[in-house]
Amino acid sequence: MNMVRNTEITLILLFMSLSAYNQNIKLPEPNRKGGMPLMQALNERKSSREYDSRNLSEQQLSDLLWSAWGINRPEDGKHTAPSSNDKQEMSVYAALKSGLYLYVPESHILQQIHNRDIRKETGMQDFVEVAAVNLVYVADLIKSGVPDPEKAGPETLNKSNINTGFMAQNVYLWCASEKLACVVRAFIDIPVLTKAMELAPYQRIIISQTVGYPKK
Ligand SMILES: Cc1cc2nc3c(=O)[nH]c(=O)nc-3n(C[C@H](O)[C@H](O)[C@H](O)COP(=O)(O)O)c2cc1C
Repeated sequence: MNMVRNTEITLILLFMSLSAYNQNIKLPEPNRKGGMPLMQALNERKSSREYDSRNLSEQQLSDLLWSAWGINRPEDGKHTAPSSNDKQEMSVYAALKSGLYLYVPESHILQQIHNRDIRKETGMQDFVEVAAVNLVYVADLIKSGVPDPEKAGPETLNKSNINTGFMAQNVYLWCASEKLACVVRAFIDIPVLTKAMELAPYQRIIISQTVGYPKK
């Protein structure tokens, strides 16, 4: 009897510690309507390098991630950005003050990878640790069909680079529409960021993109 009770207590404690550890963010439904007219958003798109430290709301995070790489045709699992041969090898990570998250488009959640603030490691410019969000676009070489991912050279990332450009431009336009500041960035210490993100050898960082409130 005692053994059964002890097992029950152990399972409850295990469940409690796992729940405390798992700080996924279930994003609200994205706004799929409205926003600034497209031609005005194109007219206002720009790169900004001065940020305020205010966080984005969960609705803003939802709309941001959905713009970047959300699913817009659930019937066949296709996204807001195109991908070469529909390989869908790209992942979008979000480095927030509360930790590093992987955006999971199918469930529209931010899955917590760890709870460390690695915004500083996402780039080599001062504003990256101030802004609310730094997105990191990561290619999965296995999904790309690269035979030996550990030996892959830069040329294998050609299509992933292009795919990322579409996602980053979606984000630029969404930021223009929301009057938020944004800049896409290649000035990154890749080994440092790869380690901070705990990426696997078949995952490659393509670029980062800072998003946040503009400095007043
Ligand atoms: C591939 C790429 C890499 C970039 N890398 C950086 C970067 O590391 N840091 C930065 O501040 N801006 C970066 N930019 C932003 C450009 O500097 C910016 O787009 C350019 O100055 C034109 O300004 P605009 O975007 O406001 O039109 C990058 C842009 C691209 C397309």
